[in-house]
Amino acid sequence: MFSFKREKALVGLDIGSHAVKAVELQVRRKGKKDGFEVARIGYEPLPHDAIVEGTIIDSTAVVETIKTVFDKNKIGGRDVVISVSGNSVIIKKISLPVMGTEELRESIIWEAKHNIPYPYEETHVDYAILKPSSAAEIQNLEILLVAAKKDKIASYSNVIHQARKTLEAVEVDAFALFNALEVNYPEDFQEQTTVLVNMGATITTIVICKKGVPQLFRDLPIGGFYFAENIRKDLNVRYEEAEEMLKGIPPKAVKPYEFAAVLNANIKSLLEEVEKTFTFYEAEDQQQKKIEQIFLSGGLASLKNISVAFEQKFGVKTILFDPFRTVFYNEKKLKPVYYQEMAPFFGVAVGLATRKKEK
Ligand SMILES: Nc1ncnc2c1ncn2[C@@H]1O[C@H](COP(=O)(O)OP(=O)(O)OP(=O)(O)O)[C@@H](O)[C@H]1O
Ligand SMILES: [Mg+2]
Repeated sequence: MFSFKREKALVGLDIGSHAVKAVELQVRRKGKKDGFEVARIGYEPLPHDAIVEGTIIDSTAVVETIKTVFDKNKIGGRDVVISVSGNSVIIKKISLPVMGTEELRESIIWEAKHNIPYPYEETHVDYAILKPSSAAEIQNLEILLVAAKKDKIASYSNVIHQARKTLEAVEVDAFALFNALEVNYPEDFQEQTTVLVNMGATITTIVICKKGVPQLFRDLPIGGFYFAENIRKDLNVRYEEAEEMLKGIPPKAVKPYEFAAVLNANIKSLLEEVEKTFTFYEAEDQQQKKIEQIFLSGGLASLKNISVAFEQKFGVKTILFDPFRTVFYNEKKLKPVYYQEMAPFFGVAVGLATRKKEK
């Protein structure tokens, strides 16, 4: 979105509040079509409280973690694409009549001023015109308006510069996930109404797209961090133990049925929040807007039986999102763990690195 150039290998760098994920992708010719190959990949946890709900608190720790993820995994590329998410990012789909470029620019500024709950001067605004889905819609332009607070972009850009990398572009997590979905599931993406739910540590991003056209993007303040906090409080364990429990490693003192009860309560409230977004989307015309398939990614997608919980709640086929489904990954050269059990963590990073060339 907030963009610059491209033609070379890019490093998609997902600076989450729990961990930094990096993927360097090389463009790879596959017959007539371009594909991607993972050149290098890495994952490095961040110290607790270095980033809180998408805000960088300890920039030194973040810079060090970025350097570590590059050095440890021999990531040679320096051209980085990052993304921001959370409450200082707003994505809105608006509809405007067809008009000239200058007039359109002014209308978009007007719309931004009326849709963004921050002073316009403090906000970086960008937009993309969506391709029309039917001839009838050519009367109107469907536009995605994206706004992010300038101070947020500045603090993320700063850590990149301090880590001595070149910032190619700043995206939003939701668009990165949209790209990752398009690249990896082209058939479902073009033919169905699909949803990707990326459940991280403090933010859950929902992307809804219908026949290749983005419909709705939403960041909810939900994630593994809140799950672990609730487990810590309700079962009187340390935060680290609560996190381990999420990964399926219970401490001896806790009875499995007690943990199951707390976990189920947390999953239930997550599903209820996700349901609000689905209901909001489907409300206008349930027939036309029926969600057909759900993909899950992010750290919390590794939770045992989470797909089943989604299927039971929404009655829609739900699968774990595979960000390497069409991206070539040489298991002989790279650690297979990233490609296997850690794959759910890499949706955003892969989406960032598959960024299209500037038009
Ligand atoms: N095996 C597992 N099962 C369940 N949860 C897990 C597992 N492994 C990690 N998590 C949880 O996933 C979360 C981290 O996921 P992820 O890396 O997607 O978040 P992030 O991108 O760093 O955060 P955010 O995007 O919210 O800022 C943590 O809360 C962690 O406790
Ligand atoms: Mg994340």
